[in-house]
Amino acid sequence: MSAAALLGQEIFKDIRLSGSGRVSCATCHDPDLGHASPFDTPVALGGVNLDLPGLRLPPAIRYLRYNGAFSLAADGSARGGFFWDGRVNSLSEQAGGPLLNDHEMANASVNDVVQKIVTAPYAAKFKEVFGEDIFSNAAVAFDRVRQALARYQQEDIDFASFSSKFDAVNAGRAAFTAQELRGLAWFSRADKGNCAACHPSTRPDNAPAALFTDFSYDSLGVPRNNAIVRNTDAAFFDMGLCGPVRTNLSARTELCGAFKVPSLRNVALRKRFFHNGQFDNLRQAVRFYVTRDTQAQLWFPQDPLGNVDVYNDLPSLLRGNVNVTEAPYNRTRGQTAALNDSEIDDLVAFLGTLTDGFFAP
Ligand code: HEC
Ligand code: HEC
Repeated sequence: MSAAALLGQEIFKDIRLSGSGRVSCATCHDPDLGHASPFDTPVALGGVNLDLPGLRLPPAIRYLRYNGAFSLAADGSARGGFFWDGRVNSLSEQAGGPLLNDHEMANASVNDVVQKIVTAPYAAKFKEVFGEDIFSNAAVAFDRVRQALARYQQEDIDFASFSSKFDAVNAGRAAFTAQELRGLAWFSRADKGNCAACHPSTRPDNAPAALFTDFSYDSLGVPRNNAIVRNTDAAFFDMGLCGPVRTNLSARTELCGAFKVPSLRNVALRKRFFHNGQFDNLRQAVRFYVTRDTQAQLWFPQDPLGNVDVYNDLPSLLRGNVNVTEAPYNRTRGQTAALNDSEIDDLVAFLGTLTDGFFAP
């Protein structure tokens, strides 16, 4: 790693760089869990007293070095960008967010962060890398903090080790079990899981192996999570691309409900799933996909007359944005699901082969 990346590594795990003195980047993006959230709850607590709940699940942050800036094509399809709603364009831009977000690391100001670096054990190294007088301008020093964090995520092998069983199989160093192989078929087949349509299992041009995301956006109709405090306000909806967190696409109501496709590498290590952390186990997340419409009552609230309030995490007028045309969610109530129970088991077994650390890279 470069000297800047090594500094980024120290900054990434430095709990002093928070208003509470107890939270670092690694607190919410745990290196032992594929840099995903270690919390059993859907959202993390942050703030000066560690009592302010966030709005979204802290995502797994591996393999993002292959992601690019946000773009919106003429046909309305979005790609790239960072955060669940793609509102920033690079890892360095992203890194400034949590340090100052009052629900996360909650430092009072740019200057506050820089003063903590001045007294950090790695302060001398910081000057060596970024210049003797780097601390004389807080804005520039803060920018270097963000750069160092980005360099760390771009250079450290752990953030993109491609060391899963899936990779070993592709390199001829291991073999799938019969069940995993069936799972891969269900994952890829357009008439079955069709997962690869958004989570490609083939190598893109810019990476050494498959990323299991194309960094595109889609509206899946994930059920509303009532455990999220902001959702106690019935009029509040987190709608991803169209806001309210992201602010520059609020007029594009056709984008409401769309969130970024996460990589499925290391997905078996995750404790929570989807942008609102609605599900707490992988099998349930997969089952949601295939039974969302065939057995909607399993997932959405039902009134005494049997009416199911489908896609209840979007205002009624925007529920038409939810993707109902692509497999596996191109079915209607009572139809057979795209995958049966044992096929779901196969698929989950396959997803288990995407965990890094199967072999030493
Ligand atoms: C209190 C928990 C918390 C802390 C601390 C935290 N994050 Fe995050 N992180 C989140 C949440 C929540 C999101 C998603 C927010 C959103 O989409 O609006 C996120 C998103 C990200 C993303 C974007 C992922 C993607 O797919 O685009 C990156 C990268 C990231 N964080 C890196 C960091 C770095 C670097 C630090 C330290 C400077 C950090 N995080 C500190 C909770 C946290
Ligand atoms: C049309 C695109 C599309 C298809 C097809 C698709 N996904 Fe996804 N997937 C997404 C998007 C978008 C998200 C994030 C949605 C959100 O959080 O609201 C996601 C999220 C997930 C997550 C949660 C990961 C995390 O870190 O929270 C899992 C697990 C998942 N998908 C598995 C699958 C499986 C298994 C299939 C096939 C049965 C599949 N996906 C098919 C677009 C797709």
